[in-house]
Amino acid sequence: MKVIKTNKALRGKLAFLRSQGKSIGFVPTMGAFHEGHVSLMRRCVKENDITVVSLFVNPLQFGPREDLARYPRNLKRDIEMASAVNVDFLFVPSLQEIYPEPLSTFVQVGKIGNILCGASRPGHFQGVATVVLKLLNIVQPCVIYLGQKDAQQVAVIKRMIFDLNIPVSVVICPTSREADGLAMSSRNIYLSPTERRDAVVLNKALRMGARLIAFGERDGGKIISKIKKLILEGSSASIDYVSIVEISGFAPVRRISKDVLIVIAVKFGTTRLIDNVIVKVHGK
Ligand code: PAF
Repeated sequence: MKVIKTNKALRGKLAFLRSQGKSIGFVPTMGAFHEGHVSLMRRCVKENDITVVSLFVNPLQFGPREDLARYPRNLKRDIEMASAVNVDFLFVPSLQEIYPEPLSTFVQVGKIGNILCGASRPGHFQGVATVVLKLLNIVQPCVIYLGQKDAQQVAVIKRMIFDLNIPVSVVICPTSREADGLAMSSRNIYLSPTERRDAVVLNKALRMGARLIAFGERDGGKIISKIKKLILEGSSASIDYVSIVEISGFAPVRRISKDVLIVIAVKFGTTRLIDNVIVKVHGK
């Protein structure tokens, strides 16, 4: 695996490989790898001739009071993990390389980026979409691999790719979970032992919501109330949101008649975690 730091060097290598007819797959990340990242890399390696992974902690997607400064960074370990699954290029640009000057142009994400996580984290999805577009322009992959854990991010990026005619396909990979069901996240390391134990309630609550739908409950409001009750009873958490939404457009669903996504964002102490489940609906 080659670790590459500049746009120019990466572009040069990829242009050559592209001219030889090689397919290029891309996994954008902010590093602090866990099994979730590695599962995206493995899939990308399996499905493409060349795998590029970017590692860039993007300041544009952090709010002024968020965790940019303390976001976990461990380049040595990340290099070992990416190399162990045969990634070809790990792109680790500096801040200066990605933002040589303050940006004057941004991707405006519209409604889908301003609800739920977008409402709690103003500007977050604009920052995500802008950096992902820049990275797509640098790497020019055939396929981008994203994790279902960040369901709203997936929806925002898919919409940007559609709206701006970006020539790339999107592969969504399932959420990787710890043995007790907690969705893997680079931010899980912020949790105290008690918060870590409490955080298991997220997956439990989502599974309960899915079960209610499977047993015929169609009233979104009732399901949301039960999920909130379970989370608050079983933990010290404070709820940011629990919502049931359409899978692609993220429009809220009151009466469930087709497949939906249950999405939650919950704070344990100062750590905000998100999770979701897709629920298939058979019949009305
Ligand atoms: O999901 C992430 O790690 C980031 O939001 C992404 C897609 C790499 C953009 O910075």
